Amino acid sequence: MKSYLTHLECTYCHATYSADERHRTCSECNKVLYPRYDLAAASKALTKDMLRDRPSNMWRYFEVMPVRDEANVITLGEGFTPIFKAERLAKEMGCTSLYIKDEGLNPTASFKARGLSAAISKAKELGITKITMPSAGNAAGAMTAYTAKGGMEGYVFMPRDAPKANQVEVDITGGHLTLVDGLINDAGRESREKAAELDLFDVSTLQEPYRVEGKKTMGYEIAEQMGWTLPDAILYPTGGGTGIVGMWKAFQEMEEMGWIDGKRPKMFCVQAEGCAPIVRAFHEGAEFAEPWENADTIAAGIRVPAAIGDYLILQALRESGGGALTVSDDQLVPYMRTVATLEGMFICPEGAATVAALNRLLADGVLQPDEKILILNTGSGLKYLELLS
Ligand SMILES: Cc1ncc(COP(=O)(O)O)c(C=O)c1O
Ligand SMILES: [Zn+2]
Repeated sequence: MKSYLTHLECTYCHATYSADERHRTCSECNKVLYPRYDLAAASKALTKDMLRDRPSNMWRYFEVMPVRDEANVITLGEGFTPIFKAERLAKEMGCTSLYIKDEGLNPTASFKARGLSAAISKAKELGITKITMPSAGNAAGAMTAYTAKGGMEGYVFMPRDAPKANQVEVDITGGHLTLVDGLINDAGRESREKAAELDLFDVSTLQEPYRVEGKKTMGYEIAEQMGWTLPDAILYPTGGGTGIVGMWKAFQEMEEMGWIDGKRPKMFCVQAEGCAPIVRAFHEGAEFAEPWENADTIAAGIRVPAAIGDYLILQALRESGGGALTVSDDQLVPYMRTVATLEGMFICPEGAATVAALNRLLADGVLQPDEKILILNTGSGLKYLELLS
């Protein structure tokens, strides 16, 4: 298999960079860099039919993944998670065609495995051995799982009140864990300081170009698993937004490769009432989101007060004809229970936020009962036991 990666491109000023050197953000404007591919050649080398013989993990799309040498791929089997038709939940919610993609079935029990498998594999290819990162929680355990598997060193900076499971995951995989008094942006500051001190490579989301490539595979899978016809709407619990912009990138790439037509889903960003910078910016018509003061929610993964990819999230929401809405924390545990009792799935509070959002969107008539709707359960509820005791 061969990757058709060509270069990195700034998503804001379009400056280009080599994909065979270490880069983080654009050195002209400090915005997000995306890997770009020769998609015409990739679509000749990899056809939809050939996917049948590929491994059932996210590296099945190798031609449009950023690692050049297969030997550098560090995998724990991430991706190709199932999409379940949620018939009993649909009935309860008053709609007919509801699907849940269960990212809790990934290694380290969240979709963060995808981004970190891609980023740590590419880091290995670029000769990097020591990695650092701030994390709201799930990304931390994923990062140190992949650095462990790759024989590399991982440093993590996490809010002191991040879920216990995430702290334990870092410890058990031999990562260096620092608990920080504050939120993910405070953790980010400490991570940058440590990076400078110990020459560590910082893989903060969207501040290096490759985590998004792992997350975009959710978009490829949704198309492939749903027979190359995308749903009418996708609801996504948004923190840094890498998942939502990654899926949007995947849809654009697949359209260029002729794998799907131009009909894209309406993308909906779901945030918590106590931390909703993207929702606020969306409704104000702003290009960027102002940082959210005193961010507070029990859904740790979406407690992200400022996102470097804010403009990319907002673009995806607007181009797709979708929207942005908040849900309250007191709805989350009840919806975790609802989904568990009706569908047998123990979803995370971030996933439950999308169910609460679905309820609102149907009630408000923004979504119609017969539309094909897909919600992302981004992680396993087993990582949040303290919420249920
Ligand atoms: C379970 C869960 N859901 C959603 C998110 C938000 O992800 P993103 O940064 O892609 O918006 C996170 C991030 O930590 C998470 O852990
Ligand atoms: Zn730029």
